[in-house]
Amino acid sequence: MNYIASKSRYDKMIYNRCGGSGLKLPAISLGLWHNFGYNDSFDNSRHLIQKAFDLGITHFDLANNYGPTEGAAEENFGKILKTDLAQHRDEIIISSKAGYYMWPGPYGDNGSKKYLTASLDQSLTRIGIDYVDIFYHHRPDANTPLEETMNALDLMVRQGKALYIGLSNYKAEEMKKALIILKRLGTPVVISQVSYSLLNRWIEEELQQVLSEGSIGTIAFVPLAQGLLTNKYLNGIPADSRAAGSSKFLGSKDITEDKLKKIYNLNEIAKERGQSLAQMSLAWVLREGKVTSALIGASKVSQIEDNVAALNNLEFTNEELIKIEESLVD
Ligand SMILES: NC(=O)c1ccc[n+]([C@@H]2O[C@H](COP(=O)([O-])OP(=O)(O)OC[C@H]3O[C@@H](n4cnc5c(N)ncnc54)[C@H](OP(=O)(O)O)[C@@H]3O)[C@@H](O)[C@H]2O)c1
Repeated sequence: MNYIASKSRYDKMIYNRCGGSGLKLPAISLGLWHNFGYNDSFDNSRHLIQKAFDLGITHFDLANNYGPTEGAAEENFGKILKTDLAQHRDEIIISSKAGYYMWPGPYGDNGSKKYLTASLDQSLTRIGIDYVDIFYHHRPDANTPLEETMNALDLMVRQGKALYIGLSNYKAEEMKKALIILKRLGTPVVISQVSYSLLNRWIEEELQQVLSEGSIGTIAFVPLAQGLLTNKYLNGIPADSRAAGSSKFLGSKDITEDKLKKIYNLNEIAKERGQSLAQMSLAWVLREGKVTSALIGASKVSQIEDNVAALNNLEFTNEELIKIEESLVD
């Protein structure tokens, strides 16, 4: 069926400026790590993208290796873009990344110029576009000189294959060094993509300060701890959940008593705020404006609706913040 984008798509979404750049990102972005592979229902993937766009989510995050199999999410997204969103390309921010294993041999992984430039070309072909809006180095690589990796990113921008550059999973010291090189090159590095949630606060220690000083935006991935920071695991593991599937990254072993206790307490605070736990978890990530966008995943259209509604209440009282801190104590 032909898709016609909702006319009200820009009415409720909040768009935050990405660091000191001119780029604005939606407060909620959609990532395609899960639910867009060859094993997933293409119709469902398509509905997820349509619903997201209808709710003002203008940013879709990919990587070369998202699948299964590697490359599948980019290919599927490319099909959806072509059939449903081609006329809206200029309303959409598409990101991709390279840095993890993608193909066999010495040139399909890590941070060399050889790997990164070839990978971006492959991503563009799979998605069927001429440029990505943001290209990330997916993770730091201690075995490649940082200068080489940053030069590869700079080249992509100069070739017009990426508009902006991002760095993902770079810790404070790595980020500081990379920013010095990129500044010298004049490369528009605008964003850091890092894991951040109520259950994972490592960026608060040092990285947030480095990003703030460098006027670099932050996009927080896995803000719902892959679904743990929702009410879905409070009474066991539902059959249609990620933890019940074949994920290498979330299984029953990860849903410990200790985490469940915290999640239960957080759920009570969310209820008092009149929010779902997912909504409160996203609002918390976005509090104080330090995070540009919360990068969610979704397996169901209803989850995207639930998550975007988090924007109806982003304010926390001091009392609520204290209660949250107390419920996170080990
Ligand atoms: N740069 C990196 O190294 C890196 C690493 C990981 C991820 N990422 C990015 O971050 C994105 C998000 O990762 P993620 O999918 O793990 O994020 P997440 O938002 O923490 O978890 C998403 C999962 O939580 C469940 N969920 C979402 N909203 C829900 C709701 N309202 N109620 C109940 N359950 C809900 C769904 O799982 P069910 O299947 O159980 O329904 C959904 O697939 C990825 O797609 C990717 O773009 C980047």
